[in-house]
Amino acid sequence: MSELNSIAIKIISSGKGILAADESTATMTKRLESVNVVSNTESRLKFRNILFSADAMKVCVGGVILYDETIKQTINSTLISKIISSSDVVPGIKVDTGAKILSSSTEEKITEGLDGLRERLKDYYKLGARFTKWRAVYKISNSFPSKVAISTNSHALARYASLVQEAGMVPVVEPEVLMDGNHDSKECYQKTSEVIKKCFEELILQKVDLKGVILKPNMILPGTKSKEEIDPEQISELTIKCLIESVPKEVPGIAFLSGGQSEFQATENLNMINLKNNSNFTMTYSYGRALQQSALKYWANNQDDIIGTQEVFNHRAKMCTLAAKGQWKKELEKN
Ligand code: 13P
Repeated sequence: MSELNSIAIKIISSGKGILAADESTATMTKRLESVNVVSNTESRLKFRNILFSADAMKVCVGGVILYDETIKQTINSTLISKIISSSDVVPGIKVDTGAKILSSSTEEKITEGLDGLRERLKDYYKLGARFTKWRAVYKISNSFPSKVAISTNSHALARYASLVQEAGMVPVVEPEVLMDGNHDSKECYQKTSEVIKKCFEELILQKVDLKGVILKPNMILPGTKSKEEIDPEQISELTIKCLIESVPKEVPGIAFLSGGQSEFQATENLNMINLKNNSNFTMTYSYGRALQQSALKYWANNQDDIIGTQEVFNHRAKMCTLAAKGQWKKELEKN
């Protein structure tokens, strides 16, 4: 088990974070089409490999989460996971198969993918993965998340995490409370606390070794339609308080999702969280959109400019890594 703990620490320590490049084909297609790039096997690989071979991989990124399509792809007969680990970065894989409507609800979702997971994990391990991700997703409204959504998703997260550790990999456990809605930060704080507490109750019940787990939560933010005005200081205080109260001390680290925040907001908030972090948890990033957005836009308009695209990505990753150390400053964004 100490091996799992060292993998987790390798991924998230010294300001390193996770590049979440595990968009499903449907989501990646949306992202590519939003910048007028045709989505196919080659274009998806081409863009992702530009990031995977950027300099930032060696200094900022500790782990990359891949999608099933990508972990099976090669460049000049070299597996993508080998390209990633050659930069001393740990390859990871999303293993859930997506969130579907809960049978007892019309709007809430349950994440699927447990059937056959033990076998799939063996294959992913052979393909080089050493950590995994599973995302549960919750909406906030007057009656959501419901007890049934919290209970079923927490149970699934724990079953997933237990199987992943059995297979010798570190589970990233992601109970995401969405930013969508008009709720305020207090409500986000209450609901996120409830969801995280229940998640750890199930992980403990199912004997998951907490030292070999990374938690991937949302920050505590008002809903996107809320009128509440809140600054990074308040966001960081609420986020840290929520995590100290809900996460067992054995957990080595927390890697936030960006969840629809802009690149700037996700960086500024992470920086303030690290300036104020009075817990023993390492607090870093596991960003998808907040690491890739600018690079994707640049690449869409300059598809032959690999170096230029990598420079955009390197800058973003560097800003996030500074934020993970509490050393980021607004002025650095201009360089
Ligand atoms: P975002 O940072 O774009 O929210 O993506 C992170 C992620 O992996 C969601 O599951």
